[in-house]
Amino acid sequence: MDTLNNGDRIAVLTSGGDAPGMNAAVRAVVRVAYTHGFVPYGVRWGYQGLIDGEIAPIEVRDVDGISRRGGTFLGSSRCQAFFTEEGRAQAAEQLRAHQIRGLVVIGGNGSLAGAHRFSQEVDHTGTPFRVVGMPASIDNDIGYTTLCIGSDTALNTIVEACDRIADTASAHARTFVVEVMGRDCGYLAMTAAVAAEADGVLFGEANLGRDELLQSIVGIVQRAYNPERGKNRVLVIKSEGVQIPSEVLKQCIDERLQQEGLPVETRVSVLGHIVRGGAPSGFDRLLAGRLGHAAVRAIQRGRTDEMVSWHVLLKPGDPRPTVFDLDPFITFWPLKTVLEETDRIVDGTSEVTRWRVRILREAEPILAA
Ligand code: F6P
Repeated sequence: MDTLNNGDRIAVLTSGGDAPGMNAAVRAVVRVAYTHGFVPYGVRWGYQGLIDGEIAPIEVRDVDGISRRGGTFLGSSRCQAFFTEEGRAQAAEQLRAHQIRGLVVIGGNGSLAGAHRFSQEVDHTGTPFRVVGMPASIDNDIGYTTLCIGSDTALNTIVEACDRIADTASAHARTFVVEVMGRDCGYLAMTAAVAAEADGVLFGEANLGRDELLQSIVGIVQRAYNPERGKNRVLVIKSEGVQIPSEVLKQCIDERLQQEGLPVETRVSVLGHIVRGGAPSGFDRLLAGRLGHAAVRAIQRGRTDEMVSWHVLLKPGDPRPTVFDLDPFITFWPLKTVLEETDRIVDGTSEVTRWRVRILREAEPILAA
């Protein structure tokens, strides 16, 4: 593999939905690159900025104190133009004009797909760009990484919100449905349900029809307020990926509870983008730092078209990653392999998704007990 030399330029960008910890990731990339003799560059506004040439050197002092901030100070975009050959050719031209040889892409599914395609383009020396991806998405829907940057903070935010909702719910003996982000993946709803002492959880991967969903919630409410059990509130966490809108679900629940003669009031709280913002947790900053370190060292060694990943439990038959010799929790995976597994996580055929559904099914009566 062709290693990079002292003085070579490495750019970093953040792309897609922002995730808490992206700033810590940029800081790590800039500082590690600088320390190893490279010249760090920042790209504003994700792939759109790459196409438009919004590329400039970043000084180490530019990233002082950014780890504690949510969002991404580089800016981000969901850029469709990058998925055309023409868009990628323009982006490559911009990087060649700035004599950049390595690119770190921090983002989720679409961003890593863009990174995979871009690794075919060549730099100003005629060698393919070294492109390394770092998984960052609150949804935690990326293959072959146990966690993405941002999902720990998002989980903490949901748990804090649910604790507050539980206070007011128990003051009125109410039932709350709390909807959390996760368009294609119910990870946040599943983990938050366990951590926030929810009584039930609804996620798209279970593929339940409207009647089954209602049946499950009404059963939870009946058991909870039964005098023998005597709960003073019910909390159900619903993932965004469940097709029925939360307000419609509330109306259906109210109708069914009335039919059952249960005088229970329900309320809905959609947390939405609140879950994506805010200061990153200590763990997300640490994860960002360790993945950022590995990403730059990978590029330094001439690796490309790969993702740096956090601690994957391998099963028989899984592809073997390259272990990062400096950090036993970090491995390098071909982006193609990552993207294939990500598709399986989203369509439900991944062993990881199947396991999540199985374990949550087993957890259901425990949550509702
Ligand atoms: O970052 C992923 C995600 O949070 C999804 O769960 C959600 O559906 C989507 O982003 C919302 O994206 P946008 O802010 O572009 O509407």
